[in-house]
Amino acid sequence: MKLVFATNNRHKLDEVRAIVGDRVEVLSLNDIECHDEIPETADTLQGNALIKARYIYDKYGLDCFADDTGLEVEALGGEPGVYSARYAGEECCSEANMQKLLHNLTGKSNRNAQFRTVIALIINGEEKLFNGIVKGSITEEKRGDSGFGYDPIFIPEGFSESFAQMSSEQKNSISHRYRATEQLSNYLKEKYKG
Ligand code: IMP
Repeated sequence: MKLVFATNNRHKLDEVRAIVGDRVEVLSLNDIECHDEIPETADTLQGNALIKARYIYDKYGLDCFADDTGLEVEALGGEPGVYSARYAGEECCSEANMQKLLHNLTGKSNRNAQFRTVIALIINGEEKLFNGIVKGSITEEKRGDSGFGYDPIFIPEGFSESFAQMSSEQKNSISHRYRATEQLSNYLKEKYKG
C-alpha cells in the first residue's frame, strides 16, 4: 500500500521508512507534487497533526498521515508544547528557544519535561491518532552538540546524557518520534497482515 507522509523532512522520512518496512510505500509531499504551505494553526499537537493530514486527504484523496511534536515542561504548565518551534519568536532559532526555556526555568527545582509526538493517520476517511512520549528532565545548561532543536537541554529518563550527547542511533531508538511511529507501524501491520 501507499501512504503519503505530510512532510519533506528527509530525516523524518528515513526514520519512518525504516520502521514501517517494505509493506508500506511512504511518499513525501514532493512525491505527490504538493508544494503548498500547509497551515499549522491549531493550539494542540493533535489539532495540527489532524489539520495537515486532513489537508492532504481532502485535496488529493490519498491515504496519509502527519505528525506534530512538542516539548512539554511541567513547571511551565506544558509550555512550549505546540509552540516549541517558535517559542522565542516566529523567525527564531533553536539556540534562542533553548535560552528562553532555560531562563524561564531559572530557580525552579522541578525540571520534569517530556517530548511528545502525535501522528494523525487517515485511511479511507477513517482517522486514527498515535502518541509517542519520552519523559525526562531539563538540564541547567546545554550539553552536547549532536541532534537538533532542544536536544542539548533534554535528558531522557534512565540516562545521564542529553539527547545531544547520544549517537543518532541511540536517540532514535528511544525517541518520542520512534515510539509514535512504532505504534503506527504496528497498527498498519495488523491491518494489512497476510
Ligand atoms: P516538529 O513538529 O517535528 O517540526 O517539531 C517542532 C519543534 O519541536 C522543532 O522545531 C524542535 O524545536 C522541537 N523538536 C521536535 N523533535 C525534537 C527532537 O527530537 N529533539 C529536539 N527538539 C525537537
